[in-house]
Amino acid sequence: MTRRQRGLLDRNLAIEMVRVTEAAAMSAGRVLGWDDKELADQLAVDAMRQALDAVDVDGEVVIGEGEKDQAPMLYIGEPIGTGDGPAVDVAVDPIEGTTLVAHGMPGAVSVITAAEKGSMLRTHIAYMNKIVVGSDARGSIDITKTPAWNLHSIGRAMKRPTSDLTVVVLDRPRHKDLLREIRGTGARLRLIPHGDVLGTIMAALDEFPDVQVLMGIGGATEGVVGACAVKALGGDMQAQFWPRDEGEEEILRQEGFSPGQVLTLDDLCRSEDISLALTGISDSDLVHGVQYGPARVRTHSLAMRSRSRSLRWITTLHDVARLREVGRYHAPSEEDILRAAQRPT
Ligand code: FBP
Repeated sequence: MTRRQRGLLDRNLAIEMVRVTEAAAMSAGRVLGWDDKELADQLAVDAMRQALDAVDVDGEVVIGEGEKDQAPMLYIGEPIGTGDGPAVDVAVDPIEGTTLVAHGMPGAVSVITAAEKGSMLRTHIAYMNKIVVGSDARGSIDITKTPAWNLHSIGRAMKRPTSDLTVVVLDRPRHKDLLREIRGTGARLRLIPHGDVLGTIMAALDEFPDVQVLMGIGGATEGVVGACAVKALGGDMQAQFWPRDEGEEEILRQEGFSPGQVLTLDDLCRSEDISLALTGISDSDLVHGVQYGPARVRTHSLAMRSRSRSLRWITTLHDVARLREVGRYHAPSEEDILRAAQRPT
């Protein structure tokens, strides 16, 4: 192996990608609470795309936002990076929790993950059913069994009574039966309005004592991004596609999957060298949101890599005016944002 190849293997892409999610968070955070999901998405996507141009990878977006809500996207198949460096699959979620940003609520992040080319699951299906646990419950889950069976099995693996477990679930009418069954086991619940990538990380992160399990149906993009995080954290996850109608079932078959198929962590991402970066847009349990000071903008991010299992929380103070001067970060000015907000609808 050449020194250059060794260097590439030792490179922690997650740290470089923090700059990408920082840029997206700084831009989108400017319109926190503006009740304009499209504008926030556009700002995050533009900033992310621009920052990606400086990353030395030969990347391709394999999973993005556009299938569920026609968000302005980094489109699937879009080449990203300088073209130099390792060939990687990239999954992007410029804003995880667009509604949270629009309503000025906590829990919104910008997230990106990269792994060897060809390693991430590709699908056009919007939703997946998921179950996620940390490393101490690895091997104890089976998504084909009932939620109660799983919670008892997780409790046994963790040597804790089921009533000690807290399960994070997206607060949706489709989860009515799931919630009833979880409550029936004595486990506690944390219902979240949006953002099951953060829920996934909380469940998989052993150092996060408040949540042990994530269950329920959320976005498929978030499923793949979440799986990358779970691998980097050493946890466990299973998923099943959740096609909404016969049309989606047909798409699933054309993609070579079957509706009831169980997706393991390796099916979702089979790489052993995954890099993931996320930056808070608004505050959450994991990262602070963007803070705009008179001279500098402060961001708080998390970088993780599966190969080393390292987790880094990174606080950065950005001198935006200086960055503009040196042509490094083309943050939208207030005028740009106002102009974009007044675009014809
Ligand atoms: P967006 O940022 O794309 O709006 O996703 C937010 C989110 O809550 C995800 O975290 C979750 O996986 C998905 O939406 C759930 O979809 P829905 O809101 O349609 O139930």
